Amino acid sequence: MTLFILLPLASLFLTLLMSPAGSQIISPAVEDLMNRNADFGARLYRAVASRTDDNVFLSPFAVSTGMLALVSGTSGPTQNELLQGLTLTGLDPQTMPDLFHTLRNMVLQTSPSTNFQQGMAVFPDQSFQVPVSYQDLVQMKFGGKAQSLSYTTPADAIDTINRWVQNQSRSQIQDVLTTLDRQTQLLVVSAASYQIRFSPPFNSTFTQNERFYVDRYHVVMVPMMFRADKYFLAYDRSVKAGVLKLPMADGAAMLVVLPDEDVDVTAVEEDVTSEKIQAWIRQLKKTKLEVQLPVFLLERSYSLKDVLQTLHITQVFQHDADLRNMGGATGTNLNQVYHVSAIVVNESGDDDSSGGGFTVFSSPPPRLTFNRPFIFIIYQQSTNSLLFMGRVTNPTQK
Ligand SMILES: *[C@@H]1O[C@H](CO)[C@@H](O)[C@H](O)[C@H]1NC(C)=O
Ligand SMILES: *[C@@H]1O[C@H](CO)[C@@H](O)[C@H](O)[C@H]1NC(C)=O
Ligand SMILES: *[C@@H]1O[C@H](CO)[C@@H](O)[C@H](O)[C@H]1NC(C)=O
Repeated sequence: MTLFILLPLASLFLTLLMSPAGSQIISPAVEDLMNRNADFGARLYRAVASRTDDNVFLSPFAVSTGMLALVSGTSGPTQNELLQGLTLTGLDPQTMPDLFHTLRNMVLQTSPSTNFQQGMAVFPDQSFQVPVSYQDLVQMKFGGKAQSLSYTTPADAIDTINRWVQNQSRSQIQDVLTTLDRQTQLLVVSAASYQIRFSPPFNSTFTQNERFYVDRYHVVMVPMMFRADKYFLAYDRSVKAGVLKLPMADGAAMLVVLPDEDVDVTAVEEDVTSEKIQAWIRQLKKTKLEVQLPVFLLERSYSLKDVLQTLHITQVFQHDADLRNMGGATGTNLNQVYHVSAIVVNESGDDDSSGGGFTVFSSPPPRLTFNRPFIFIIYQQSTNSLLFMGRVTNPTQK
């Protein structure tokens, strides 16, 4: 008798142990959506990063939220092409908002709003007859809003959008938008911000200015944080890069990817897929280490239309777009997808965990110094959702 009761309990216990954070059970449908979002997020990151040598920073999670809300406002071939571009082929567009709602709750639950803020908005022109049901869907399932604007008075529309972005990202970014065409019909905007709270945090007593090698000819001085501890580390021979995990107080973690000295950061970037990220996470092993990481602050804003088109999302931007579900008449189309994100990486930690001195080891452990361009990935550990991805080429620039 006891055996029969014990067995199911034991297997439940095992399931709990095996789920990523050991506490949440994720339904296969939600896990599927999460994996597809991560796949799209990594592709989006590679497409954005491949166009610039500067710092890069974006929130795949926030961009996905905006694009999924857009999916619900489209139908027909426009919707099919969007689903395909977002690697959501085969997913039922009717049930997707509920699935996403579940995923979103899991992501936000463990990320206190004080650390991670994100939002999205759909701004159709006043000529759209936006159904109340679509407004409600955007608000309830995607945590965003669908607000009509009058683009025939562009200055007012610009002002409304800029104020919305500033509020959502809590960033200092002024004037994301400076000009808007009077012919604008639809914009999708997403914004996100994050204040890092490493756990354990770095202690600012040990932060000192050190060299950062932007490229072969260009060196800048940056405040470099320091901590000696046991860390999770991996080395990927195929791309020649070290991968360090820095856990955070809110259940998220940062993977910091440092290419070997003779390897260009962009060469590693080309291989950053969601499978690669999962493989890195699996290969992490605990080791004694001294870590030096620069303090940095990034604020980036992107117009993603061109990038999305390279990911084969095109029809929604054309005159034959089908925006019926959000009240768009024939001949209306999406004009632009804006994304804004901001992050502060410094010694701030969990309020109740002491920064402490640092662990003193009997012999000095190896030192990993992030003093040349590196990639970082912030993911939520219980759902493996990609919250942010970025590249620091020069930590003294935003
Ligand atoms: C700013 O954001 C907060 C929280 O999302 C919201 O309650 C408030 O209404 C927003 N303010 C403006 C001016 O949009
Ligand atoms: C980290 O940056 C935030 C935002 O700028 C600031 O409020 C906080 O005091 C900083 N923490 C430290 C330890 O410098
Ligand atoms: C930082 O380290 C110093 C020296 O070990 C220590 O005195 C101080 O309390 C630490 N700071 C925090 C916030 O724990």
